[in-house]
Amino acid sequence: MIQDKRVNCDQHLHMTKHFQYSKLPGSDSRWLGLNHLQAIRPDALRFIATLKQLHPDLAHIRVLNENIVHVFHPDLVREILVEQAEKLHRWEKITRIFSTSMGESVLVTHGAQWQRQRRMLQPGFTPKRVDGFARLMVTATTEALNNLNQAEPIDVDELMTDMTLDVILRTLFSHHDLHDARRIGQSNQYLSSYGFEQTFTLFSWPMWMPLPKVQRARQARNALHRLVKRQIQNHGTLAHADDLLSLLQQVRDPENPTKGLNQQEVFDQIMALFQAGHETTATAMSWWCGLMAHHPHVAQKVQSEIDSVLQGNAPTPEQIRRLPWLNASLKEALRLYPAAALLFSRRALQDIHAGPWTIPKGHLISISPYVIHRDERWFADPQAFKPERFLPNAPDIPRGSWLPFGTGPHVCIGQHFALLEMGIMAVMLLQRFSLEWPQGVAWPHYKLGLTLKAAPAIKLNLVARD
Ligand code: HEM
Repeated sequence: MIQDKRVNCDQHLHMTKHFQYSKLPGSDSRWLGLNHLQAIRPDALRFIATLKQLHPDLAHIRVLNENIVHVFHPDLVREILVEQAEKLHRWEKITRIFSTSMGESVLVTHGAQWQRQRRMLQPGFTPKRVDGFARLMVTATTEALNNLNQAEPIDVDELMTDMTLDVILRTLFSHHDLHDARRIGQSNQYLSSYGFEQTFTLFSWPMWMPLPKVQRARQARNALHRLVKRQIQNHGTLAHADDLLSLLQQVRDPENPTKGLNQQEVFDQIMALFQAGHETTATAMSWWCGLMAHHPHVAQKVQSEIDSVLQGNAPTPEQIRRLPWLNASLKEALRLYPAAALLFSRRALQDIHAGPWTIPKGHLISISPYVIHRDERWFADPQAFKPERFLPNAPDIPRGSWLPFGTGPHVCIGQHFALLEMGIMAVMLLQRFSLEWPQGVAWPHYKLGLTLKAAPAIKLNLVARD
């Protein structure tokens, strides 16, 4: 939906061919890298940004028994994630953590098994298919806004989580009974923050351990499993030909048309889509709302554009595409606060070429859209909120420097879905309300988890428009 404008940024790469296979640049790892670990724990993004200042294209560090290579230059990211994708696996620690809730889903598997699953999910996420979900996105947004109590400042993350939960439940199951949505949302959030915490620990407890934290994670996981099982049981085949569950139950592998997904595979994919498909969008929308309230002159531009194109009517996908300021503001919010601030780390299964360097087999590769998005080589005044840099007539953005949805074969399958959903929610919110930043409240810091949340949460005054 949002046009990606690409130019090559080769000219910035700090190297030339004759440095072939030079030693990886890196930072001193003292005490087995415990010096790094101490800096990573409180604020991993700040640590990575500091590394980038020292080594702008790529930096190697060692932490305990792991060699980690942080990649910052978009051309190198592309060379690794796009051109050598088959030489990488997602970090086994992350996939092990995810597999406790989403089994063998597309977010966990690799190789031929992942390819087969991705092929079978793909038809559910083509732009055309996604446009077909617009009506239910409009309905979910209308209902959430009708139920809003404006008396107090609104916690936008709660509001957006309610909306995106409703959308994903309707899309997956044609379900819209939200009486337990908050609880489901909380279970999901607990599970994702627990999962994220586990990635920094040396040892992960098995899910059966009778420790309070593990017990809570187990309960959250079981609550999500119960919800999905109940939905699948109540659904019945063919009853709702348009939802994603029906699609997954009926889909055939284009390369092996007699074979579909078995029941367990359907369950696992639904769990993955449910988990990947609402917290990310809610988080991105919360930052966007905050930015709109903090930059009323931009909000006004977006609002007048919406009013003139839509004349108060509910948006269609085609109309959303005709709102350059809206799309630019969403894109700029995703640049400053990409919900997935870190991509899943990858393990090099073979030596990987990265410009003049070789990343040896066995090393971990880490890529942070958050840090790449704030690099002044690609974005002038990178800390500032300037949607105009994404307007159609603005100078081109260097290729690969905007990557909130990742890149390469694992690029987010839900990106059209997310952008349409964000567009619809944003339009409908601004049609009804002006968003006001409460007086005397400072701009929040962030808290890095599986998604990049505002800390403290953003609370806004929603003032009804006449
Ligand atoms: C603003 C919202 C979203 C953001 C920022 C986002 C971001 C991402 C990113 C960065 C990746 C790639 C991770 C990597 O390469 O390590 C990814 C993968 C994925 N996303 Fe999203 N996502 C969003 C919304 C969605 C939605 C709405 C869905 C589904 C309904 C979804 C489903 C998935 C799945 C299944 C994958 C794994 C793809 C694969 O490995 O083949 N995402 N997402």
